[in-house]
Formats: sequence, structure tokens, C-alpha cells
Amino acid sequence: MRELTSWLSGAADPDDFPYSAVLAEYHRVGKHFVEKELLALLDQIRAQVTVPTADPPGPAVQLLRDFLDVALDKWDGRYDYRSYLALRLLRLPCGEDEGPGEDDGHPDRARRDRDRLLVGLVADALAFELAAASDATDLLPEDRPDREVVAKRHRLGVRAASPALVRLGLAGAAHDPEPAAVLRDLAAERAPAGEPALWLSMLPVYVSHDEYLFIRVLQSYECLFAGLVDELRATIAALAAGRARPAADRLAYAREQLTAAGPLFSLLATMQPTAFRTFRQYTDGASAIQSRSYKLMESLCRTPEGTRLESPAYQQVPEVRDRVHAGQPSIDEAFRAAVRDSLLTGADVDLVARAMRAFAAAVLQWRRTHHRLATRMLGSRPGTGYTEGTPYLATVRSIPVFTAVTHDPGPSSGTAPTGGSPE
Ligand code: HEM
Repeated sequence: MRELTSWLSGAADPDDFPYSAVLAEYHRVGKHFVEKELLALLDQIRAQVTVPTADPPGPAVQLLRDFLDVALDKWDGRYDYRSYLALRLLRLPCGEDEGPGEDDGHPDRARRDRDRLLVGLVADALAFELAAASDATDLLPEDRPDREVVAKRHRLGVRAASPALVRLGLAGAAHDPEPAAVLRDLAAERAPAGEPALWLSMLPVYVSHDEYLFIRVLQSYECLFAGLVDELRATIAALAAGRARPAADRLAYAREQLTAAGPLFSLLATMQPTAFRTFRQYTDGASAIQSRSYKLMESLCRTPEGTRLESPAYQQVPEVRDRVHAGQPSIDEAFRAAVRDSLLTGADVDLVARAMRAFAAAVLQWRRTHHRLATRMLGSRPGTGYTEGTPYLATVRSIPVFTAVTHDPGPSSGTAPTGGSPE
């Protein structure tokens, strides 16, 4: 409060906003328990910085507005998955905006940006684990895991980030350092001096240690899904032009991303179910059923059937449902049309169909692993997105990804994430 009132009574320069002091208070008690006086003051500051001006807001004002929107979501009564994960601060699609979308056929920059973000998120999660294990931080002190679990998290985190580190040229070649060392160095650059968005996007609802990991893993998957959306849109454009090779390559890249991210689920499986059940009492209303990127990914593969479109799955992402109603194209339709119009023939049809099947297998595997993880953590409790919980996931896990090609729905139980031990 003191830092804020002195900031307000001075120049109130957004560049000098006392983020550290505000974050420290949020971290001390958890977002759910922040004092009303502090929230009211932040609300007052937000009103001040959101006064419309003739010029577009500069980056410091925009950052402050975005931060306050995330910090005040519970106060405003609009707390949800997107605000819980601070997707806006991470510049990931969160519903109100268009988000990064189609590229012009040169995907390298967008891919590198995503790789950098993913690596930053994982490095930060591991840095927190190591700092807590050596008592170098008093952040989120409840239910700290033992050293063995921390070591396992470190191994799994390095595995999850390694493909991105290699693509970025930061690790992996004979003369390069080990991914673990690179991650350690990256984590050492943690904000405030490093990336403000990364630093500001960690606002747990409670003071349980494992919530840090939970948030970072969800954010990593959001980063991944946003990337998949770009790849799928580019696939559709390539199919519409009858270009089999780029379509298959984009799908193959998307499949690799999804498969390579598997260790993230294993990492999350090391979460202590009791810790999870404690902090999730305060995450009610925030569920990944509200993930815009996931539903975009699903609907870009194939237009969902009417029953699914009108179910909570899409009611919770109305902006995606509207796009589908407005005729959003899908890979399934684009593929059928390209074959029907002889834009794709012979070996090209097989090439694309194979890539579609492989991508579908990766999505189905993701769903099965997710279902297993949710069962382990949640048991028979309902979801925070107001479904009945794992029975919902059991129903949706075998929805076909495509219908224009046949694919194997796979075993019904799926592979267990390897990180944790069953309850
Ligand atoms: C402790 C770990 C997790 C548990 C217990 C869990 C539980 C659930 C539950 C119960 C649902 C159904 C909706 C609801 O009522 O909330 C759901 C949906 C969903 N979850 Fe998770 N989840 C976990 C981790 C994750 C992770 C790491 C992701 C990655 C982003 C994720 C992505 C999704 C998505 C995309 C849906 C919507 C699926 C659909 O509507 O078809 N979940 N989850």
C-alpha cells in the first residue's frame, strides 16, 4: 500500500509502477486472499491508466493495464482460465483479441517466438523448484516437495524443453552445452531484470508450492496450442492451393510439437494430489475447458458436430463457436475438397492422409494422457469448469479428430504420465 500511494502521489509514471511490491503482497497471501483495500486502490489506478487518449497506449501503459486486468479478475468477478494464466500478458490468444494468426508462409519467426516462450516458462518453473529446495525463496511455502521430487521435476523439465532448445540452437550440438546447463543459465536471468511478462504472469490463487508448477505447465501448453493453431491454418491454406508437401510438412511439425511436449504431462504428474486439491478450492470457475486455442485447434481439424458445438465445451468459448458458425474452414473439409476437385491426386493424397493420421494419433494420445492425469489428481470430484469431471473427459477423448481419413482411436485407457506415483 505504501509503495502504491507514494507512486500515486508522485508522477504515477507507468514505467516506475511498483510491480515488485504488488507481486510480493499477492504472493504472500495468494490472489484469492488479497485485502480489499489493496484491490480497491489497484482498481482506482486502473481507472486512471485506462482513460482513453487520442494516441494508442505506449508499451508501459499497456503492460500496466494488462497486469491490472489479471490482478483484478477476482475483484471484478470475471476470473477465468485466461486471466488465471495471464495469457494476455504472455501475448497468447485469450479470446478478446485476434491473437497471432495466419503467417505469410514464412513460419520461422513465429515458431522461434513460441520456442523462446516455452523455454522461458519451463526454465522459470525449474528455477523456482531449485530455489525452494535450497530455501533461497520464501515464495509459496506450503507443501514443498522433497528433494527426490525436485530432481525428477528437473529431469522432466529439461526433457520437455530440449527440442525447443535444440531448434533455437542453444543446446544439443556437439560443441554446445547440455540443455540442463542452458536452462539453468536462462533461469538465472529471471525477471525482474529479464522478461517482465514472464515475471508478472505468475499470480497463484493460494500459497501452495505446487501451484507454481501447475500454472507454468498450463501456460506452456497454451503456448503449444497457439503454435498448433498457426500450423493448422497454414495447412488449410496449402490444401486450398493443392500444395501437398507444405500441407503435410505443417501437419508433421504440429505433430512433433505435440508429441515432444509429452514430458510436460509427466512433469505435472509429480504434483502432490493433496496440494492440488488444496489450491483448486480457489480456482473454481477457471478451467481449461475455456481454452480458446485448444478449441480452435479442434475445430480447425474438423467442424465439430452440432451437439458438441452447443455443449459446454463450446459455450465456454463463444468466440470460437461464432467463428465455426461463420464458416471457419477445416482441414477435413479442405482435404475432401482438394481431392474432389483433383487439386490433390495419387501419391499426394496419400502423403497428406498419412500426415493427418499421424497428427490425429498425437491428439488422441494427448487426450488419453490428460484423462489419466485428471483421474489421478481429481478422483471423482467435479471439474472447475462445472462438468462432472473425468466422466466428461472420458466421453470427449475419443471424438474423431478427422473423418476424411480413418484413424485408430487407440486403447481406451491411454498411457499414464510417468512423473508421479499413483495415489
Ligand atoms: C491436474 C491436472 C489436470 C486436471 C485434474 C484436469 C482436469 C480437467 C477436467 C475435469 C476437465 C473438464 C472440464 C472441467 O469441468 O473443468 C478438463 C478439461 C480440459 N483440460 Fe484439463 N486437467 C488437468 C491438466 C490439464 C493441462 C495441463 C492441460 C493443458 C492445457 C489441460 C487442458 C484441458 C483442456 C483443453 C480441456 C477441455 C477439453 C474439452 O473440452 O474437450 N488440462 N481438465
